[in-house]
Amino acid sequence: MPLVTTTEMFKKAYAGGYAVGAFNVNNMEIVQGITEAAGELKAPVILQVSKGARAYANHTYLVKLVEAAVLENPDIPIALHLDHGDSFELCKSCIDGGFTSVMIDASSKPYEENIALTRKVVEYAHDHGVVVEAELGTLAGVEDEVSVEADKAMYTHPEEVVDFATRTGCDSLAIAIGTSHGAYKFKPGTKPQLRFDVLEECAKQLPGFPIVLHGSSSVPQEFVNLINKYGGNMPGAIGIPEDQLRQAARSAVCKINIDSDIRLAMTACIRQYFAEHPDHFDPRQYLKPARQAVKEMVAHKIVDVLGCDGKA
Ligand code: G3H
Ligand code: 13P
Ligand code: ZN
Repeated sequence: MPLVTTTEMFKKAYAGGYAVGAFNVNNMEIVQGITEAAGELKAPVILQVSKGARAYANHTYLVKLVEAAVLENPDIPIALHLDHGDSFELCKSCIDGGFTSVMIDASSKPYEENIALTRKVVEYAHDHGVVVEAELGTLAGVEDEVSVEADKAMYTHPEEVVDFATRTGCDSLAIAIGTSHGAYKFKPGTKPQLRFDVLEECAKQLPGFPIVLHGSSSVPQEFVNLINKYGGNMPGAIGIPEDQLRQAARSAVCKINIDSDIRLAMTACIRQYFAEHPDHFDPRQYLKPARQAVKEMVAHKIVDVLGCDGKA
């Protein structure tokens, strides 16, 4: 099947009590690792591209890699999504350039400005058959190039979500319930805990409406330990416990974003490879196990966290 929007995926995920994984792609090995896992597990999948990924790999290369993955995996629905679009122009460029879904992230702007910009993107996107994810609330950590102090993290205000969704016409809504971007989400010694009360209240206000969670990597300690063992230095890297994400996936959360865990798996694998093969210099040799590590990470997320295996 051709690239799809997320509309049907989210309808089925909401009704079925699972979430679809949204994984960031930056190169061929990442696209292949993710889609091989999703293809074998018959899982719907969202491949997402950030502004930074587009700057690194080029829009056309990324779209063509994703199109190749679609041809190689004809039996599963695949959506191509812009992650954290920060302007109308960037969203328009992705809509015009073959994406089936875009995020306009105006969450750092004042409420009325967020509504106005989101509305403008929604009008253009819907005219072109593309769906829009918007965001209310601010995640702690590093959001693409925007850094927000952890202690200034702002949870989504549930009393705003109906007004926001109605006035913008967005198709899904990213909310802030304590997740954050990157590998350092919680201070060592603190207990990671998502605000399920905020999630439940948002879901109650917007029955049937797909909720999105960003910043949902779990930062598996086995990979942090491998990185540290083989020359890295990542003390105190802590993520979201996977049981909490599984609980979220059973609720109104239909899309869960995971990027850092893929980066950790690849980096651990490549560091270990070079430590064990100091004389090797062929990228195919060290990228092959790294691609396999991406595949295994995504397969684990699909089965144990998202619950979307067999849902294609
Ligand atoms: O939330 C952002 C994603 O992890 C992508 O990050 O800006 O480094 O591509 P990036
Ligand atoms: P992580 O950094 O937790 O993987 O979050 C990724 C994300 O939210 C991409 O938009
Ligand atoms: Zn994000």
